Amino acid sequence: MQKLFADFFGTTPDNVMLFAKGRVGLYAVLKAMGLGQGDEIIVPGYTCLVVPSAARFLNIRCRYVDIDPGTYNINPALLDACLTPATRALIVQHTYGIPADMDALMRWAAGNNLRVIEDCCHAFGSRYKGRMCGTFGVASFFSGQWNKPFSTGLGGILLLNDPSLRPALQAVYRTAAEVSFAENLRLKVQIAAYNALVTPRTNAMMTSAYRLFSRLGITAGSSTNEELAGSMPAGYLKKMAPAQMREGALNLQSIDASIAARHRNTALYTEMLRQTPYRTPAVTEQRECALLRYPVRVANKRACLQLAARERLEIGSWFEVPLHPEGTDMAALGYRDGMCPEGEKASREVINLPTHVKINKAEVQNVVRFLQKFAAPA
Ligand SMILES: Cc1ncc(COP(=O)(O)O)c(C=O)c1O
Repeated sequence: MQKLFADFFGTTPDNVMLFAKGRVGLYAVLKAMGLGQGDEIIVPGYTCLVVPSAARFLNIRCRYVDIDPGTYNINPALLDACLTPATRALIVQHTYGIPADMDALMRWAAGNNLRVIEDCCHAFGSRYKGRMCGTFGVASFFSGQWNKPFSTGLGGILLLNDPSLRPALQAVYRTAAEVSFAENLRLKVQIAAYNALVTPRTNAMMTSAYRLFSRLGITAGSSTNEELAGSMPAGYLKKMAPAQMREGALNLQSIDASIAARHRNTALYTEMLRQTPYRTPAVTEQRECALLRYPVRVANKRACLQLAARERLEIGSWFEVPLHPEGTDMAALGYRDGMCPEGEKASREVINLPTHVKINKAEVQNVVRFLQKFAAPA
C-alpha cells in the first residue's frame, strides 16, 4: 500500500508513513518538528475536533482563523491577525476536497518563516493549478476513514515532502504501537461488514448502528469517548493494521475510477444546481477537484437532514460546529464563540451531498429533486 500511495504522488515509499488514523499522522509530524509547550499553530475554524486535539496532546496552542465562505477554506486575508511570535506552523485544510488558495497561503507562510502542513483528509486527488494537493507543505496527512476518498477502513497516511524531517519522523514512528492480533481481526471483520452492508440506501441506518456499536466499544470507531472528552487515549500513537493496509491497497488499485466518479458527480451537481437558487461552491479551473462531498447551504438544515434520512438519501453534515462534532468542549481547545463567524454560519447551514463511485446520475437527480422539494436555500 505504501508503494501504491507513493506512486500516486510520484514519490518514494520512504516518504509515506501509515498510521491508525489521519490525526495520528498530524500528531507525529508536529512531534517530529519538535513543537510543544509555548508553541502555536494556525488552524481553520471549521474542522474536526481531532485536528486541534492532536496539537493539544503535545501542549501546542491552536489559533483559529475563519474560512472563506465560498470555498470553506482558511481565509488568507485573516492570517496576519493571528500571527504571534510563538506561531510555528499553518495547517491548510482542503475542505470537502476544494483546494485552498495555495499561492496566497504558501507566500504568507514563507514570508513569516512558517511550515505548512496540509490536511488532505477530504482531498485525495484534488489539484491546485495542476499540482496535487498534499505536495505543497512540508508534510500532508490523509484519512482512510470509511467516508473518505479511499478507505483503509479507518487508518491514516502521512506524506512527507521535506526530507529534512525524515529522521525525526522515523524516530517518532518507531515509538508508535503495533496493532494486536485481536485488533487486526476486529478491523478485518468491520471492513468486510462495511463492504457487504453499506450502500447509498442503507448508509444512514448503518452509520447510526456503527456509532452506537462504537460508543459501546463493540466496533472500533472514529473517535473514542476519551478523545471526545478531550484526553489522549491510550495507544493513540499507533501504526496502521495489516487488514487496513490490504483494504487501502485494494482501493488504491481502482482509485482512478473512484476519482473520475467524483469529478463526474461534482460536475453534475454544479450543472443541476445552477438552475436552482442554490449557490455552488467557488471552484474555478485553477481548483480542479474531485469533491469528497458537495456542500450546499440550506436554511432548514436539521429538518432537511431528518427528512433525507427518512427518504434514505445519503445527505450528511460536516461540520456541525467549528470543531466538529456537536458537544465538543471547544473552549478547552481554545475556541470561543464568535471567533470564526463564517465557520459558525457554515456549520449552521451546510449539508453535503454524496459524490462517490456508488452514486450514479439518477441518484444525483434524486438528491437535487429532494433539495428543490424540501430544502430552503440559505
Ligand atoms: C478535515 C478533517 N481532518 C482530519 C480528520 C481526521 O481524520 P482521521 O479520522 O483519519 O483521524 C477528519 C476526519 O473526518 C477531517 O474531516
